[in-house]
Amino acid sequence: MVSLLTGPILITGGSGQLGHALAEAARERRLEFVAVSRPEFDFDLGESIAACVAAANPCLVINAAAYTAVDAAESNADAADRANHTGPARLGEICAAAGIPLIHVSTDYVFDGDKGSPYLETDPTHPTGVYGASKRAGEIALLATGANVVILRTAWLYSAHGKNFARTMLGAARKTNEVRVVMDQKGTPTAVPDLAEAILDIAALLEDWQPAYRGVFHAASAGETSWHGFAAAIYAAAQPLGLKPPTLTAIATRDWPTPAKRPADSRLDCGKLAATFGVRLPEWQVSVGPVVQQLLALDGVG
Ligand SMILES: NC(=O)c1ccc[n+]([C@@H]2O[C@H](COP(=O)([O-])OP(=O)(O)OC[C@H]3O[C@@H](n4cnc5c(N)ncnc54)[C@H](OP(=O)(O)O)[C@@H]3O)[C@@H](O)[C@H]2O)c1
Repeated sequence: MVSLLTGPILITGGSGQLGHALAEAARERRLEFVAVSRPEFDFDLGESIAACVAAANPCLVINAAAYTAVDAAESNADAADRANHTGPARLGEICAAAGIPLIHVSTDYVFDGDKGSPYLETDPTHPTGVYGASKRAGEIALLATGANVVILRTAWLYSAHGKNFARTMLGAARKTNEVRVVMDQKGTPTAVPDLAEAILDIAALLEDWQPAYRGVFHAASAGETSWHGFAAAIYAAAQPLGLKPPTLTAIATRDWPTPAKRPADSRLDCGKLAATFGVRLPEWQVSVGPVVQQLLALDGVG
């Protein structure tokens, strides 16, 4: 897709999984961009937000910065709130005042997982933990700023960059013969490079801003699985590349207690994204192989 954007895109959270992939994808598309990370851009240092926006003078901001440690958030609610709620709200105010469109990323963890079918954007939210609650508070606050904001709720991100489930599973296979993974939480693994491409496709449309672009959209890969199913796919992709897969044992959530309660079924219906922007992420299985290949190349097979 050809971009109509004329100024730099400001990407926050440049050191994270998504920020890194956005920078790579923007570079490949030859888009002008500025990626900022801590300490230059830090939601804990309020003045850094305005300073980065002023320095970049962007035509668009993509906020990929967030407090993402779901369990640690249970005992660090203030830090999670600053990074996921009050910080993004400040960024939204700055963008609103300057007339800069903003793409913000949120999460499937705004839902409790009890619906039993894929969630729509209009479904009531009910986060089960501090992380999800802080992200939901951020969504509400951003919409209240009046900014031209596109909020993309995504799910189960993984990539070759940073900490994620795929890297953890491959690391576990190197250390142990048996890996136990929960089979009663449903969702959709989303490869970060796929999300980054989708975000830049959306970005290319924003110069011709339409009122329908403002609001919340679900943006995950297509299809569904459990964490156990995802682990099986990771090992199936890794085995031909030389990794000896461990015995994969399916366990129940109650056998793997964590500080934060996770939604049992956080599948997202992404129809609104397709209808509004013409953007669809691929089936989740498609990208497991390429990301696993990159992870093995970076981390080694054995
Ligand atoms: N990971 C998932 O499975 C998942 C699922 C659904 C939605 N999401 C959402 O997707 C987005 C991208 O996630 P990700 O996986 O790319 O996250 P990530 O890899 O953890 O990266 C988070 C980024 O935010 C930065 N950051 C953390 N606290 C900050 C603060 N107080 N001020 C400024 N920057 C801060 C981090 O900087 P440092 O490197 O300095 O820590 C890092 O650059 C987030 O909005 C997240 O909520 C993620």
